[in-house]
Amino acid sequence: MNAPLPAEVLKQHLIDPEICIRCNTCEETCPIKAITHDSNNYVVDPEICNGCMACVPPCPTGAIDNWRLMVRTEAYGLQEQLGWEELPGEKALPEAMAAAPASDEPDATEAAIAPPLSAAPGATVPPWSAAHPYVNLYTHKAPMTATVVGNYRVTGADTESDIHHIVLDFGELPFPVLEGQSIGILPPGVDAQGRPHHARQYSLASPRDGERAGYNNLSLTVKRVTEDHAGAAAHGVCSNYLCDLAKNDKVQVIGPFGNTFLMPNHPRANLIMICTGTGSAPMRAMTERYRRRIETGENGRLLLFFGARTERELPYFGPLMKLPRDFIDINLALSRETGQPKRYVQDLIRDRADAVRELLADRNTCIYVCGLKGMELGVLDALREVTLQAGQDWSILHDALRREGRLHFETY
Ligand code: A2P
Repeated sequence: MNAPLPAEVLKQHLIDPEICIRCNTCEETCPIKAITHDSNNYVVDPEICNGCMACVPPCPTGAIDNWRLMVRTEAYGLQEQLGWEELPGEKALPEAMAAAPASDEPDATEAAIAPPLSAAPGATVPPWSAAHPYVNLYTHKAPMTATVVGNYRVTGADTESDIHHIVLDFGELPFPVLEGQSIGILPPGVDAQGRPHHARQYSLASPRDGERAGYNNLSLTVKRVTEDHAGAAAHGVCSNYLCDLAKNDKVQVIGPFGNTFLMPNHPRANLIMICTGTGSAPMRAMTERYRRRIETGENGRLLLFFGARTERELPYFGPLMKLPRDFIDINLALSRETGQPKRYVQDLIRDRADAVRELLADRNTCIYVCGLKGMELGVLDALREVTLQAGQDWSILHDALRREGRLHFETY
């Protein structure tokens, strides 16, 4: 058991800038807004953090799980942390403090026994039957070199949405992954400050046994970024690099990452998958996992809600529509199709309320939401509405889904 800390000593929570992939998960998860960031680092405010641990399990890399015993008055401030390129080492505490009276503040290791539900709308634990993921096998300091073995556009050539399916091969080196995990790509070159670019995170689009079953490879779904969220011209450093790669080019990869957005492994588990655009990557991975074992009779039901501007801008439209109707229930929400009303995924969840409710009533059902940040609230509202229509209390169901690792969000 850990002894309580003396009052003058702080167990300071820090984020390792060398491992952090700047995915924003911690900032979104912190229930008391103790985490903030600038263009360089994600940092924890020692004045606010209470060591509740809510941010620790969802961090896909483990960069969040760093602690230093500090003299409280000498804790590292925000400005100092924002300038770090690496974590400082441990400092020895003055001897007198070891004998000081105990502080009343909660100790982080005690809080970890029952972490509070975070501010994030989804679960911070995986489904009970998820396979155990490997994370951080390759890091910024020791990345893996992968070879490009495929790069294909998966949206109509005449559309603005330039989305690529990119296949990376790892040769003889181990890179074990699960559906729902992501990897980091290190784009070559330096940023405006002359520092090497941070890694960019991409979800896997292929299942655990490879883009090609039995091969040591995986695939990504990458949209070429040519404008920012506000529509102003912007050149996506990593997306353009990836979309322009040729066969046999080498790419620096780190990861894998992610230990919560994972699929259930037990027979007859149902998946409700809700995505927009490149958020379809993990849904493709999970669907393909199910498709490859279709003959085993182990599969539960698959219900997909997929949003895109038009059919031609919906990645993987052709292969998706070839899947048998009794294997996957596909609902396409098209927002800019000529002659059709604008539809979002949340509209279709309401249209299919009966099917959604039936699956929600089954504890073997897990829900995955991936894509635009803006859809998060809309999807939660739609789920609340369909459960309320059946006289159920959404807040009770929502808490159960989060605690049981059955509702997962990955939005950007
Ligand atoms: P919209 O036509 O209104 O932009 P994108 O192509 O930009 O990645 O978007 C994928 C799809 O997600 C588009 O159909 C887009 O519609 C839709 N979308 C945009 N905002 C939301 C939102 N808040 N909720 C659900 N879908 C959205």
